[in-house]
Amino acid sequence: MESKTLIPKPTMVMMVVLQVALYTAVQSHLSQAILQDTSSIVFPLSGSIHTHWAYMTTINIGKPHKPFKVHVDTASELTWPKEHLYKPKTDSIVKCEDPLCVAIQGKERNCENPDDRCEYVIPFSDGSKTHGYLVRDIFPIRLTTGSIIDSPLVFGCGYKQIGAFRGAGMLGLSRGPVGFLSQIHSQGLIKQVMGHCLSSQEGGFLFLGDDLVPHTGVSWTPITNNYHEDRDYLSGPVDLLFDGKATQVTGLKVDFDSGSALSWLNQSAYQHTLDLINQALKKTKLKPAEPEGELSVCWSHKKKPIISLDKMNNKYFKKLTLSFKNIPNVKLELPPQAYLILIKGKVCLGIDDGDKLGLQNPNLIGAISMQDKLVMYDNVNHRIGWASRDCKIPPML
Ligand SMILES: *[C@@H]1O[C@H](CO)[C@@H](O)[C@H](O)[C@H]1NC(C)=O
Repeated sequence: MESKTLIPKPTMVMMVVLQVALYTAVQSHLSQAILQDTSSIVFPLSGSIHTHWAYMTTINIGKPHKPFKVHVDTASELTWPKEHLYKPKTDSIVKCEDPLCVAIQGKERNCENPDDRCEYVIPFSDGSKTHGYLVRDIFPIRLTTGSIIDSPLVFGCGYKQIGAFRGAGMLGLSRGPVGFLSQIHSQGLIKQVMGHCLSSQEGGFLFLGDDLVPHTGVSWTPITNNYHEDRDYLSGPVDLLFDGKATQVTGLKVDFDSGSALSWLNQSAYQHTLDLINQALKKTKLKPAEPEGELSVCWSHKKKPIISLDKMNNKYFKKLTLSFKNIPNVKLELPPQAYLILIKGKVCLGIDDGDKLGLQNPNLIGAISMQDKLVMYDNVNHRIGWASRDCKIPPML
């Protein structure tokens, strides 16, 4: 996306510059021919919605490297550990004039001198914030071919966090030029394709590159270029079906956001969906229950604690379906497990009112709704896809 190649200025002897340019071009062509798009990277995941409210992976930074357990987020761009865990050397500081600094700061440029360190403030949808500055260091990356590549990557050093952050920081996987996938791709190692498999039991895996994308059985929908300077994984419009039937909830744009535990719908869509769920629960043995922390809508059984979501299927809770309108028959099925959370013998709704987030697009498909699926983000063909998968089974290559 963003080119980091510096064009030499014709100030010295032209021939030398030309020769160097030619040599560099041949070299980079050669290395691309060897490396371009040939491999993938697989990261095991830990965590789950029920245990940690997040999926985490371990990234290694530095030489010798140090491991950081970070929150996997397809909706934010910057990767960053907390500063007290990662102590940067002075020569790794990224300056304000760096194109990646311009990309991260966007319209909020806060540089007085081109030599200043590149400061940023990143707000998240839950109201939390991280303050930091950009650095560049080596990431030893193990390719599925077996080789380990020392990739110099730009990331953040978060010196001040406001709000709840899980783990040592974040892995930013959105489409912007500073995104982890974008940077690795720009070094010619892998295709700009990635995917994750979030297990409802625990863990799963994340992959970068396209080796694990199945050739058949995937539902694909185009990525919409719309909000946030085209950095999010947005698609749609979708209509919401309840128990397979059409509802008033139509025409939503949805963001695929692995960093959000819950899914979110705009207020009117949320209210309408909640009404349909409550309607279907009338005359059953479930009754409204006390909220549970951030989960404001819960139900309990009139006689006994609820011990499994599987038993909730159909009898009490119906399947929700996101029906993508741009392509016939492309549907994201959300069985009750993809929108309910079992907690303390109660069942709580894992969908919330997205208008509370104050985002440009209030509709998010969070990790809860992507469990037990291979979800793929294909920036080569500009599409997002999914297929059912048992994410406990490690990927075979
Ligand atoms: C909110 O949901 C309604 C359907 O209930 C839909 O018509 C409207 O376009 C949605 N707005 C946004 C911003 O998603």
